[in-house]
Amino acid sequence: MTSAAPRPLGVAVVGFGWMGRVHAQSYARVTHHFPDLGVRPELVVVADEVPGRAEAAAAQYGFASAVQDWHEVLTEPRVEAVSVTAPNFFHREIGAAVAAAGKHLWIEKPVGVGAADATAVRDAVGSAGVRAAVGFNYRWAPAVQEARARIAAGAIGEVEGVRIRLLSDYAADPAGALSWRYSRERGGAGVLGDLASHGVDLARYLVGEINAVVADTAVFIPRRAVPSAATSGHQRVVLGESTAMGDVENEDAVTALLRFASGARGVLEASRVAVGEQNTYGFEVAGNHGVLRWDFRRMGELSVSGGRAGDGSVLYQDAPTQTLFVGPGHGDHAAFQPGAAIAMGYDDLKVVEAARFLRAVADPALPAERGPATLDDAVASARALDAMSRSVTSGAWEPLA
Ligand SMILES: NC(=O)c1ccc[n+]([C@@H]2O[C@H](COP(=O)([O-])OP(=O)(O)OC[C@H]3O[C@@H](n4cnc5c(N)ncnc54)[C@H](O)[C@@H]3O)[C@@H](O)[C@H]2O)c1
Repeated sequence: MTSAAPRPLGVAVVGFGWMGRVHAQSYARVTHHFPDLGVRPELVVVADEVPGRAEAAAAQYGFASAVQDWHEVLTEPRVEAVSVTAPNFFHREIGAAVAAAGKHLWIEKPVGVGAADATAVRDAVGSAGVRAAVGFNYRWAPAVQEARARIAAGAIGEVEGVRIRLLSDYAADPAGALSWRYSRERGGAGVLGDLASHGVDLARYLVGEINAVVADTAVFIPRRAVPSAATSGHQRVVLGESTAMGDVENEDAVTALLRFASGARGVLEASRVAVGEQNTYGFEVAGNHGVLRWDFRRMGELSVSGGRAGDGSVLYQDAPTQTLFVGPGHGDHAAFQPGAAIAMGYDDLKVVEAARFLRAVADPALPAERGPATLDDAVASARALDAMSRSVTSGAWEPLA
C-alpha cells in the first residue's frame, strides 16, 4: 500500500471499437477499485481511422484530444502508456512503434496474425525496456484464479485431462459482414487467434506448457457479404444492403488435442459459427483426485468435484460435486464486491487487467505473479496456434517450437 498520492499517468487508446471502449472505461475505473497502484491514468488522446469515431470517443469519455492517425499518439509527450485495440494486422506495426517510442504497451490478444508478429512485438518491448500487458482477460476471473491455486496446491491430484471450449455464434449468420476478421492477412487464422488464443492461455495458466498439438479446422461459411460501410466489433449486415460477396479466408472452427509438458492431455474446441452458443467459454480440469469446472456464463461459480471417505482415502467413485460461489477471498473479487455470489462482469476482468498493467508500470520490480499476462504469454499462445495450423497441413502431431 503506497501512502503517497498517485502520480498522473497519461494514456492513449489506438482503435476505438469494442475493445477501445473497454480499455478506456478500465482506465477510468481502475483507481476506484485499486487505489494503491501508485499511478492514476489520465485519458490524453484517442486515435481511430474512421472519420469522427475518435472525436465521438473523446467527447463521451473525456480524452483531451482525438486524432485519426495513430502516429500522432507517439509524438504526444504526455502519453506514457498506449492501449493497442486496433485489428490484429496492426498489432505488430503499432505495438512495436509504441515500444520504440518508449511508451508502455497494453495490447489486445492475439498480438498480430501469428507467432512471428507476437515475437516481433515482444522483442521491441524488450529492446525498449518498457512494460507490456496482453489482453488475456479470462485469467482474471476470481473462479479461474481459485482453480489455478487449487490445481497448484494439488487439490485435484495429478492433472490428467483438460477440456477447454470457446464456442460462439457471432459469425453463425451467413449474412454477417465480411469484416477484417475473415481475411487471413488482416485477421490471421480466424477463430484460432480470435477465440482459441484465449483457450491456449487458460490451458497454460492452469496446467502449464503445451508440448505438442494435433488439430483439425474447417470453414463452414465460405462466402460473406462485403460491407458497404465501416463495421465495428462483431456487427452483422443484412444481405440486401450489400451487392458484393467475398471469400472467407480463415477458419470458422478448430478442434485440437493437446499434450502438456506435465504429461496431461487436453482437448480444445473453438468455433465462431456455433448456433445456440453464446460465449460458451469454459474448462474442465480433471486430476486423479477430482475435477474443477468453470463456465464464463456463470463466471462467479467454480464447480468442485472430489473428496475423501471417512477414513481419509480418496473417493475414486461417487465423489460429490459442490458449487463454490466466489467471494472476497478469491482472486480480486474483494476489489469489486463485499460478499460471495455478488456477480462481477466481463468489464471487471479488464479493470483487473488494467490494474496489473499499471502496477507493473509503477513498480519495475513487481513479481510476475502480481503482474499482467505478458508478451511471452502471447508468443507461447501464438506458437501453439501456429502449430495447430501446421498440423492441419501435415496431418500429424506438431511439436511447439
Ligand atoms: N480480450 C478480449 O476478450 C477481446 C475481445 C474482442 C476483441 N479483442 C481484440 O481486440 C482487437 C480489436 O477488436 P474489436 O472487437 O474491438 O474490433 P473493432 O472492429 O470493434 O474495433 C477496431 C477499431 O480499430 C479501428 N482501426 C482500424 N485500423 C486502425 C488504425 N490503423 N488506426 C486506428 N484505428 C484503427 C477501427 O476503426 C475500429 O474502430 C482485436 O485484436 C481483437 O482480437 C479482444
